[in-house]
Amino acid sequence: MELPLILVNFKTYVEGTGKGALKLAKICEVVSKKFNVNIAIAPQFTDIRLISSKVKIPIFAQHIDYQEPGAFTGHISALAIKGSGAAGTLINHSERRLSLKEIKKCTEIAKKYDLISVVCSDSLMKGRNIARFDPDFIAYEDPLLIGTGEAISKVKPNSVRNFVKTISRINPEVKVLCGAGITSGEDVKRAIELGTKGVLVASSIVKATNPKKVLIEFAKAIQE
Ligand code: G3P
Repeated sequence: MELPLILVNFKTYVEGTGKGALKLAKICEVVSKKFNVNIAIAPQFTDIRLISSKVKIPIFAQHIDYQEPGAFTGHISALAIKGSGAAGTLINHSERRLSLKEIKKCTEIAKKYDLISVVCSDSLMKGRNIARFDPDFIAYEDPLLIGTGEAISKVKPNSVRNFVKTISRINPEVKVLCGAGITSGEDVKRAIELGTKGVLVASSIVKATNPKKVLIEFAKAIQE
């Protein structure tokens, strides 16, 4: 996966569901191409297959379960996610939390099915454990800042810097993203300056009146 990365989580926002999800995915693709910046998206499960047939940017699931294919009702398997066209998956998002044991199993199953794992962590303490599971990325997000417009890269720069340093000491292969409240190009720029390999964002893009304009601002900040 090319870096730095802007990963846009569509959550279950109406604007990022169904037709809205496809529209947003196309906007992300256009901006990604035009500015040569890596933008990936995480729509809901039900939108992955259609979107993956229409756009070429990487698609992530918002969650997976660790169960292997078989007699497990109501679970979402890594096999199904991969088959629907996803390149990777979020694991342990603050709005879809898992125990450490579950995070480990989900990270393993993602690896087995060749899915890029982005494991979210709300603290350095948890991040230390997660790094040992060898995910591709850890996304550091303060749940208290999610959706507030107060960017983690501005409000807690020392925590982000320290998170990056500590994780790279434990497992230098793991790349760190940060997220929560990222709203402006300046927030994105700060995140990169703090040593992250990109950002995980949602509301400032998905709920924007003009998502393309905001994405262009983010993309330009990364180019600088
Ligand atoms: O997954 C991204 C996220 O939780 C941050 O949300 O709305 O603060 O960008 P938001």
